Amino acid sequence: MILYFTGTGNSKFVADYLADKLEDTTVSINKYLKNGEDLICNSEKPYVIVAPIYAWRFPAVVENLLKKSQLNGCKSVYCIATMGENSGNADKYLRKIFADKGMNFTGYTGVVMQNNYLFMEKMPKARDAFKALNSVVPYLDKIAEAITNDKPLKKQDKTPLAAVMSSVVNAGFNKFMVKKQSFNVDTDCISCGKCVSGCPVNNIVMKDRKPVFSTNCAGCLACLHHCPKQAINVRNDTQDKGRYVCAEYKHWKTKNS
Ligand SMILES: Cc1cc2nc3c(=O)[nH]c(=O)nc-3n(C[C@H](O)[C@H](O)[C@H](O)COP(=O)(O)O)c2cc1C
Ligand code: SF4
Ligand code: SF4
Repeated sequence: MILYFTGTGNSKFVADYLADKLEDTTVSINKYLKNGEDLICNSEKPYVIVAPIYAWRFPAVVENLLKKSQLNGCKSVYCIATMGENSGNADKYLRKIFADKGMNFTGYTGVVMQNNYLFMEKMPKARDAFKALNSVVPYLDKIAEAITNDKPLKKQDKTPLAAVMSSVVNAGFNKFMVKKQSFNVDTDCISCGKCVSGCPVNNIVMKDRKPVFSTNCAGCLACLHHCPKQAINVRNDTQDKGRYVCAEYKHWKTKNS
């Protein structure tokens, strides 16, 4: 069973790709979070968890859901991060979560994809982002091969000061930069409600036909990137940065077969 969390689709692309190769099924962690449900699953095949890196760790909401989860059946679990560059000591925290459950942590690896953290860089044109997916595929094939053959996955990336980045810096980032992000919505908003329905943690409600943000943000940036009018921004930092949404795997496959 392949469980994934995603903000802008990279991790869903990886999950769908692996599901196709491994003849397995995907399950959206976003839906469990949105519905406030505990994650209770049963799988005869190894669990594969795919999620983005936020500040050198899996997202806090995902780590917390995994800690409380009941993963019945197969005792092996692989973790795969999608990331812009590097993932610090993310694996260390995941290893502990699954060791505490008595599961066999069969490895961790990171897949470098488009960095959706648009505070740092301008997003690419959709056409270029689509082409860039081709360069990810050979590594996904290696991951699929390892899982098929019950081989462990190896962490590839090294981060300077990984221990500090994934502990103190991560905690500070979650506390000060994520939860209470200062969103604003401009007059281009057409009240479509896409930001409300797409928020995995129900941090947005519609009031007087405009989205209003609460203080429980998970940092996924789905609302910014998916808004059809690019009407949502954080402070004055995300205007003119473009937006990014990863292509659906099915669409990519059709174009590449
Ligand atoms: C809040 C936030 C923090 C991020 N921190 C990191 C990071 O520490 N290291 C990194 O390589 N990429 C980082 N990224 C980039 C994402 O991990 C990357 O773009 C990921 O593939 C997005 O996955 P998704 O499309 O499934 O949401 C961050 C993105 C966000 C939104
Ligand atoms: S997704 Fe954009 S246009 Fe739609 S309601 Fe939200 S802010 Fe407005
Ligand atoms: S408010 Fe936006 S960035 Fe925060 S969790 Fe919801 S969709 Fe993600």
